[in-house]
Amino acid sequence: MSSESAVVVDDVSKRFRLYSERNQSLKAALMRHGRARYEEFWAVREVSLEIKQGATYGLVGENGSGKSTLLKCIAKILRPDRGTIRTTGKLAALLELGSGFHPELSGRENVFLNGSILGLSKRELTSRFDEIVGFAGLEQFIDQPVKNYSSGMYVRLGFSVAINVDPDVLLVDEVLAVGDAVFQRRCQEKFSEFRRAGKTVVVVSHAMETVRTMCDEVAWLEHGRLLRTGRPDEVVDAYVDEGREDREVSSEQAESRWGSGEVRLSAVQLIGPAGQPTTHVRTGDPVTIRLHYLARKRIAQPVFGLAMESLEGVYVWAHNTRDAQWVPDAIEGTGSVDLTIDRLMLQPGTFDLTASVVTYDTTHAYDFLRRCLRFDVDHGTPRESGGLVALGGRWGFSPPTVLVVAATETTDGTS
Ligand SMILES: Nc1ncnc2c1ncn2[C@@H]1O[C@H](COP(=O)(O)OP(=O)(O)OP(=O)(O)O)[C@@H](O)[C@H]1O
Ligand SMILES: [Mg+2]
Repeated sequence: MSSESAVVVDDVSKRFRLYSERNQSLKAALMRHGRARYEEFWAVREVSLEIKQGATYGLVGENGSGKSTLLKCIAKILRPDRGTIRTTGKLAALLELGSGFHPELSGRENVFLNGSILGLSKRELTSRFDEIVGFAGLEQFIDQPVKNYSSGMYVRLGFSVAINVDPDVLLVDEVLAVGDAVFQRRCQEKFSEFRRAGKTVVVVSHAMETVRTMCDEVAWLEHGRLLRTGRPDEVVDAYVDEGREDREVSSEQAESRWGSGEVRLSAVQLIGPAGQPTTHVRTGDPVTIRLHYLARKRIAQPVFGLAMESLEGVYVWAHNTRDAQWVPDAIEGTGSVDLTIDRLMLQPGTFDLTASVVTYDTTHAYDFLRRCLRFDVDHGTPRESGGLVALGGRWGFSPPTVLVVAATETTDGTS
């Protein structure tokens, strides 16, 4: 353990027992000599990670991936079944909503109860009481039982107590999202203050933008295992990319279709870099959009067209064979038309393609397939900050300056 580590998790596993025979009769239980049957379930498996002092560290992962369990192990609320966790300095944890609060007691009583559990003396609590209540903005409600509090009020009080304990390491589990905008802002400020004071924060969150901007390092858990750790942009992007479900490759799902039918588009495909139809590509990938057609008779000078919209319905792009001066003299029977794109300059997101084949003067549709192919773009190269399109721009400074690339080191120089 290096001296600057605030938390070292070493090969930690946590098991729960799931008792599955709740409605068994007493007789059956006695027959088993009172031993309950259970299944073992490993909520956290062989996780090792190190959190440096002064870091803001994020834990991400889908529901049930073990984030809260790991955080509770770090907070020493749960004991790992295997492995060890070492922490340096005073810990304060803000775990699930209202945990540590007694519903029948007033806010005031809970501040004292909760604060003393977190290690403050009665004197310390008395002197900080006004500040705690003030930060939570609960002066008017402090003598009411907390069972009457809204979920936002619960969180504010819990957070306020936790930060006023003045911990070296603050553990926060997905509760910040519950507070209103003003309170969230105040929390962000508190976190910044914490950082400047060299304190360590560990946050569990599903708010990816917050994790991306707030954290210095992020760990991604999946089914209790540590999948990867690293810079927030890289880990968060990979996590978000993975979350996109695979789509079926088919053009049968057009939102609407019309046209006289002398030419039909029998399939619309997006061909990825691997040369296979896909609905999942990356920024900067070489792709081909392929339109398969069937012309029942000889059709002179047909025009094939494509258009693209974002998921929100923003019109992103369109192109057709007439504007490209690529109109065949005539088609008949089956065939296909390719639009080859060397680099797909779209930002990560979901897009819908519309395909059509129309007459040369574009006044009559043979076949028009509105939103017939939906596809996802994941992070690739170039990696730009936002919007719908990637422009592949480069920054330059004059005079030249030394660049600080990122707060944490990166192992590959490709990004
Ligand atoms: N006390 C418990 N007894 C039995 N199983 C539990 C217990 N606590 C958690 N689990 C199980 O352990 C797994 C991990 O739960 P955990 O709460 O750590 O997930 P999480 O990553 O925090 O999820 P979420 O994003 O939904 O908060 C889940 O399958 C959950 O059902
Ligand atoms: Mg959780």
